[in-house]
Amino acid sequence: MSGRQRVFSGVQPTGNPHLGNYLGAIRNWVEIQSQFDNFFCVVDLHAITVSHKPETLAKDTYAIAAIYLACGIDLSHSTIFVQSHVPAHSELTWLLNCITPLNWLEDMIQFKEKALKQGENVGVGLLDYPVLMASDILLYQADKVPVGEDQKQHLELTRDIVNRFNHQFAKPNQPILKLPEPLIGKEGARVMSLTDGTKKMSKSDPSELSRINLLDSPDEIAKKIKRCKTDPIRGLEFDNPERPESNNLLTLYMLLSGKTKEEVANECQDMGWGQFKPLLTQTVIEALTPIQEKYQAVMNDKGYLESVLRDGKQKAEAIANQTLAQVKAAMGYSMPL
Ligand code: TRP
Repeated sequence: MSGRQRVFSGVQPTGNPHLGNYLGAIRNWVEIQSQFDNFFCVVDLHAITVSHKPETLAKDTYAIAAIYLACGIDLSHSTIFVQSHVPAHSELTWLLNCITPLNWLEDMIQFKEKALKQGENVGVGLLDYPVLMASDILLYQADKVPVGEDQKQHLELTRDIVNRFNHQFAKPNQPILKLPEPLIGKEGARVMSLTDGTKKMSKSDPSELSRINLLDSPDEIAKKIKRCKTDPIRGLEFDNPERPESNNLLTLYMLLSGKTKEEVANECQDMGWGQFKPLLTQTVIEALTPIQEKYQAVMNDKGYLESVLRDGKQKAEAIANQTLAQVKAAMGYSMPL
């Protein structure tokens, strides 16, 4: 594993993971994992930046770890662990908070959008979310961070924090924190809502019909695709800005069938929706069934899942604590006796 570049990424244990999480993130991790030394984290500290249910947090956290395994994250290339199991994440966040200008955080688009939705009830954690994310990445000295479009600004902020930290506390040409780079996924992995092809598929959309969850039953999948938004035009096509639903559903079909864009474009150019929808339904069910079976097997073996997370915590902590010690030393802290 040594000599390989390091990758860090994470998913929050909030709500049901859906096709957007899979095709936009986890599936890309699976594809690249053999080339890197990977740390895939369940970011449960991020999950409480909006109101959360204490009754389900632990269960949801285990479920995401099981989803990682079910989707094909391979422990011979990747470490799976839970953010809150490694206290260094919280501690580095505090240290980096104190060098991060407030206005950098106030400028974050995601903060502004989420804060707007929550009105009066915005916690400090929501503002601080990107510093916690920076700490996640920097503790592991990650070279590459697979991120979607919506997280690019947070990665830019992470880079700004690195430069500021190294400038203030490291010797010239001996950086303490590594500057991470985004690993931008393949084009077309942005999955849109089933009820509005111009909006991203999202856990926070109030309509269940807007998304297909990875753990949906075949009946639920069939129902959602039957009722998804279409347009009155016959023949399906990619990349027509007037037809976002056509582009989105063809993209889903392409990604889950393994066919190329040209193959799909040719196959579907004369199809009506009534012909395409059953084909898409079948394809989604066939792609998700093996993931669901593996997920159930992992969830039924709690001892195995616990051992994966225990090993993960150990591997993660060994690296994270080293970075944290270097940061604290550079900032002038005495070491605990
Ligand atoms: N903020 C990311 C999201 O919601 C999750 C996340 C937390 C993350 N820490 C990270 C992603 C570090 C990449 C690297 O999608």
